Amino acid sequence: MESILAQNVYDDPDFFAGYSRLPRQVHGLDGAPEWPAIRDMLPPLAGKRIVDLGCGFGWASRWMREQGAAAVLGLDLSDNMVRRAKADTRDAAIEYRIADLETLELPEAAFDLAYSALTLHYLRDFGRLVRVVHKALVPGGGFVFTIEHPIFMAAAHPHWIADEDGRKTWPVNGYSIEGERRTDWFARGVLKYHRTIGTTLNSLIGAGFQIRRVEEFSPTPGQIARAPELAEEVERPMLLLVSACR
Ligand SMILES: C[S@@+](CC[C@H](N)C(=O)[O-])C[C@H]1O[C@@H](n2cnc3c(N)ncnc32)[C@H](O)[C@@H]1O
Repeated sequence: MESILAQNVYDDPDFFAGYSRLPRQVHGLDGAPEWPAIRDMLPPLAGKRIVDLGCGFGWASRWMREQGAAAVLGLDLSDNMVRRAKADTRDAAIEYRIADLETLELPEAAFDLAYSALTLHYLRDFGRLVRVVHKALVPGGGFVFTIEHPIFMAAAHPHWIADEDGRKTWPVNGYSIEGERRTDWFARGVLKYHRTIGTTLNSLIGAGFQIRRVEEFSPTPGQIARAPELAEEVERPMLLLVSACR
């Protein structure tokens, strides 16, 4: 019988080994083509108390401290990820903890910024997390996050189909049907949750956030010239980047 992978796929040894070899994990933030766009969306970080939701190896947590953040709390479901983040960090103002964002509780008005990269599409209940984050921020506090773009998530698997001339196409199926999506990425049947852009943004508005900026990340011509394998990312949006404010 085929086993259903738990949400905590990052503790699967084969998945973790593959994931650890991704350029963005070997080279850190500069290995992620969307990083310059995210950086532009972040508020000034000096003196800020930050929570990094799904902190992974802790690359962003450490960078935020280098920008002068007062303290960073990095949270992640995976023991593998938290161990690695702790091993790579020498900074008493960064604390890493194992936590499930599906059931997370945070102290009220304790943070100036909540940040999350490529994690919230693993959550079944995005609305709950958004409400928890809203309460945990001080008035005026920021919430900046990235997720897999809902169009990318709804595209056919294995993400492209050859047309009759052999060209890659990315048909989108069932965009309006929200909920579980499974993908084969370093492991079979990795579980993610599809939500439309409307649901994603309305969850923020419903919780009381003001939306500041929304980017549908696509690589720049300069990035494609340096890394030609990025060229197909202009065919459909891969990542959704959102900046909101309490
Ligand atoms: C693609 S990685 C991104 C890690 C990091 N933010 C980065 O950009 O390098 C997704 C992370 O989300 C974490 N994650 C997935 N589901 C989670 C949950 N329910 N609660 C907390 N973390 C979760 C995984 O363990 C993993 O570290």
